[in-house]
Amino acid sequence: MIVSKLTLRNFRNHTYLELDFSKGLNIIVGDNAEGKTNIVEAIHFLSLARSFRTNESVDLISKSRQFATIEARVEQDTTKKEIRAVLTPSSKKITSNGKPVRRISELSSLINVIVFEPKDALMFNDSPLVRRNFIDVSLSKKSPLYLEALMSYEKLLKERNSLLKEDKVDLLQLEVVTKQIVDVSETIVKYRVAYVNEINNVLSKIVSTIKGEKEEAHLVYNPFVKCDSKFKEAALRAYARSQESDIKRKVTQVGIHREDISMMLNGEDVATHGSQGENRLVVIALKLSPYFLIEDKEERPVVVLDDVMSELDKAHQERLTTFLRKFEQVFITSTKTNVKNASIYEVKEHKVIRRNA
Ligand SMILES: Nc1ncnc2c1ncn2[C@@H]1O[C@H](COP(=O)(O)OP(=O)(O)OP(=O)(O)O)[C@@H](O)[C@H]1O
Ligand SMILES: [Mg+2]
Repeated sequence: MIVSKLTLRNFRNHTYLELDFSKGLNIIVGDNAEGKTNIVEAIHFLSLARSFRTNESVDLISKSRQFATIEARVEQDTTKKEIRAVLTPSSKKITSNGKPVRRISELSSLINVIVFEPKDALMFNDSPLVRRNFIDVSLSKKSPLYLEALMSYEKLLKERNSLLKEDKVDLLQLEVVTKQIVDVSETIVKYRVAYVNEINNVLSKIVSTIKGEKEEAHLVYNPFVKCDSKFKEAALRAYARSQESDIKRKVTQVGIHREDISMMLNGEDVATHGSQGENRLVVIALKLSPYFLIEDKEERPVVVLDDVMSELDKAHQERLTTFLRKFEQVFITSTKTNVKNASIYEVKEHKVIRRNA
C-alpha cells in the first residue's frame, strides 16, 4: 500500500498542509524544529490511532486550536481509501471513506505503517516494556487472535492483582483466575515463539545487506516457562512457587507480562557488546523485518523512518538507502540529503516545497 496524499489541519505546527506523495523514497528534509517529524507522526498516527511521541491528543492539536484533522489517501491494488482522523482534546474519531472505524484492529489492514523513531536506536538498552511493545504491536497487527489473547490476559492479570490486594486473599478464586491466566498465556507464548522464529529467518539477511558484510543476528526469547506439551503444568508450578511472595507483595510476579527479548549480533549480546551504530543498525533491521513477513506485496506496510541516518557513516547511509529502494514506499526525515532518485520535500517556515532529485 502507499499513502498518495496527506492533508493536515491544525496538526502540531502545521496549520494547513496538503502533500502528494510518490511510491519509493520520500525524503522530508529541513532544519531542526521545522515540523518534519510532525508530518511522519501524522502518517503513523492513522495506523494505530496513537502517536509514537505522546498519549495525549491535546499535544497533537496546534496551540490555541480546538481540533486537528489528519487525512490520507491510501492506495492498495486498484482501490483508494480516504482515512480521516479528527482529534479534539478529549476524543479521536477515525473514518474510512466516511464510515467510522471502531476497532483499532481494523486500522492496520486499512493503513499499515511501520516506524523507526530516534529513541528506538537504543531499544536493547531500554526497559523490557519497550521490547515487549515491539513484539506485541507488530504481532497484533499480523494476528488479531494474538491481540484478543493479549487483551484477555491483561484483564485477567488485573483481576488477579486485585485479588492479591485484598486483606484476606480468596485462594479459591485466585486458583480459578490463575488457571485462566495459564490457558491464555500458552496461546501468547506460542505466538511469540513462532513470531521470533519468523523474524530470525529474515533478520541476518537484512543486517548483512545494510552492513555490507555477512553478519549473523538473531533475537533470543525465553518464555517464562518452556513452550512445550507440558507448558500448562510447568506454568501452574511457577505460579504456585510465586504465590506466597505474590500475596506478600500484592502483585503477580511471574508471567508473560514480565518477559523480555534480547538481540545477538555475531554471537554477542548487542546491548552489552554492540557499538551505538551497531545497535542502531540491528534495530532498523528488526523494525523492517515484519515487512518481509507479509507475502502479499500490496498489503506490505508503509515505512516511516524518523531521523534514521544520523550517527551512520556515509557507507552505511548509502547501503541503507539502496536497501530502502526495495520497499514500496518509505518516508525518511533528515536535516540534509543528497539522495538521487527520490521525492524530496523541503519543510521551511510552515511551507513544503517538493522537488524530485
Ligand atoms: N501542538 C503544537 N502546536 C504548535 N506547535 C507544536 C505543537 N507540538 C509541537 N509543536 C512544534 O513543532 C515544531 C517542530 O517539531 P518536529 O518535531 O516535527 O521538528 P523536526 O523538523 O522533526 O525537527 P528535528 O530536526 O529537530 O527533529 C517544534 O518546534 C514544536 O515546538
Ligand atoms: Mg524530528
